[in-house]
Amino acid sequence: AGGANSAAARLALRRSLGPAAPLRRYGLLREHGEAAVELAQELIPAPGVLDFLLGWGGDVGLLGHDPGEVAPPEPRVLSPYLSSAPLTRLGRALGSGDLDLAGLWGCPPDGQLDAVQALARSAGAPLRTLTADPEADLRTAAVLGAVLWIPTDDLHGEPRRPTTDAVTAALLRSRVPVCLTGLKPWRPAGLLAARAYAELTVPVPGFTDRRAMWSAALPDLNGTLLEDLAVRYRMSGGELRAVAAVADAGARLAGNGHPEPVAAHVEPAIATVTRGRGGGAVHSITPRRTVADLVLPDVQFRQILEIASAFRAWPRIAESWGFARRSGHGGVKALFTGEPGTGKTMSAEIVTGMLGLELLKVDLAQVVSKWVGETEKNMETAFRQAEESHAVLLFDEADALFGKRGEVKHGTDRYANLEVGYLLQRLEASDGLVILTSNLKDNIDPAFTRRFHFVVHFPRPAAAERRRLWRLAFPEEAPLAPDVDVDALARLDMTGAAIAAAARTAALAAADGGGDTIAMRHVVRGVARQFQREARLLRPAELGPHAHLLDNASQG
Ligand SMILES: Nc1ncnc2c1ncn2[C@@H]1O[C@H](COP(=O)(O)OP(=O)(O)OP(=O)(O)O)[C@@H](O)[C@H]1O
Ligand SMILES: [Mg+2]
Repeated sequence: AGGANSAAARLALRRSLGPAAPLRRYGLLREHGEAAVELAQELIPAPGVLDFLLGWGGDVGLLGHDPGEVAPPEPRVLSPYLSSAPLTRLGRALGSGDLDLAGLWGCPPDGQLDAVQALARSAGAPLRTLTADPEADLRTAAVLGAVLWIPTDDLHGEPRRPTTDAVTAALLRSRVPVCLTGLKPWRPAGLLAARAYAELTVPVPGFTDRRAMWSAALPDLNGTLLEDLAVRYRMSGGELRAVAAVADAGARLAGNGHPEPVAAHVEPAIATVTRGRGGGAVHSITPRRTVADLVLPDVQFRQILEIASAFRAWPRIAESWGFARRSGHGGVKALFTGEPGTGKTMSAEIVTGMLGLELLKVDLAQVVSKWVGETEKNMETAFRQAEESHAVLLFDEADALFGKRGEVKHGTDRYANLEVGYLLQRLEASDGLVILTSNLKDNIDPAFTRRFHFVVHFPRPAAAERRRLWRLAFPEEAPLAPDVDVDALARLDMTGAAIAAAARTAALAAADGGGDTIAMRHVVRGVARQFQREARLLRPAELGPHAHLLDNASQG
């Protein structure tokens, strides 16, 4: 620092080398050793800076980086929060000093940046965010006249983040304007008492906003597609823009110099950005079968189709017809009941496939814990995972969860009841598509069924359905011998699952016997095996003219 003569020049130099100066914030100059006072602090250039200055190249992006900096919103990015009147009012109050602590709650992490950027813009202040050292962050924000943004969702228990105690302690002593954001409110009483606090519930962008955001992010898409995306995916903010960027890159890459239309690259980009978040008790299933594979009586078949169309229609109805205000929550919830093997799980898969979404199946055995409170935590995680992936959530074989409520027999049952209460509440709060399946029919509490928009009972298939099930059970390529008598087979009382299993056994028997066709005797053997598996008696007379094949089947 030699050469600075006047006091003013020395002061200016100190300011440009001080801890909040850009050179220090961006890490271009770093502290070397420890000094008792800032004035005695030795500073050295960061690795690569000299090389860069000498013209030897280097990555500018790696040279300088201010971990606390939050850029203002980009002009071409659409954020519904920029035009939100309550947010603007809150921002102005933060800017004028009427407030120095604001809470923005209810918005998932993905949209919090948009919300807080809008707030800072109305405050007329730059925005900074929390790094590892809250006190240093507050000092820097004070020097820069910035609003400090503290996302609170991951303050609790994230190892690399400062603890809530450290943050609260620092905030208690500071007067820097601060904005807290979180899905759930975080309101330490001492803090609210010490500061001038106000808060807002920041809604997740609705259908209309999402449609506009998709349109801004991917202007080449046509209106129908934009609407479809806004209906099916409740994503907004950073996630939506990530999809747009990945889709754009995909289109450029595939076009080999001449960008392809981006439309075909949107769904794969969504999969890239949002999927595969399963794990723990949640498993991802990719739907393979379609309605063409599903055999149900007309009434139930129509109900299955209706679930998909209700899910598509809801976001529009909710907003344009005002139903969202009435019910508070969106989403579609369906309960499938019926005997084992009647197609409940398969139907969940098919509905998901119709919507082009991912199916996340919850493993209840893993969710239900003997520890009080753990089950709810696990369920919450499952709901979150599905919401973050914009997936359909399936609680398969959920019987364990809902006997009659209120019937407390043993100590453990009490917990089971608590869990149902929680599940019902959480179900209502979810705005996705949630499907539960159960084998119980009469034993379900009406308090439970009331919460579902659709309750579909899957009957055992009648002869007409069984005939179609038998036809579908053999793939088109399967070499079926002419003697296979579907009408005779359809007279046997079997479920879809039993028919599918019998057909597989028949094919295996045919292949095993070295033949090149699947004959009636193989199918009868498959049926016999299936009856054995179910511990049911198959009387030869039930097979009519094919009774003699049963003797052969049971002999070998
Ligand atoms: N209604 C149906 N239409 C077409 N195939 C069916 C039907 N029901 C069952 N199947 C066949 O049986 C298989 C098993 O059915 P699925 O797992 O959906 O039954 P489920 O009702 O969920 O039974 P569980 O209560 O035992 O879980 C399906 O993958 C399908 O091959
Ligand atoms: Mg099932």
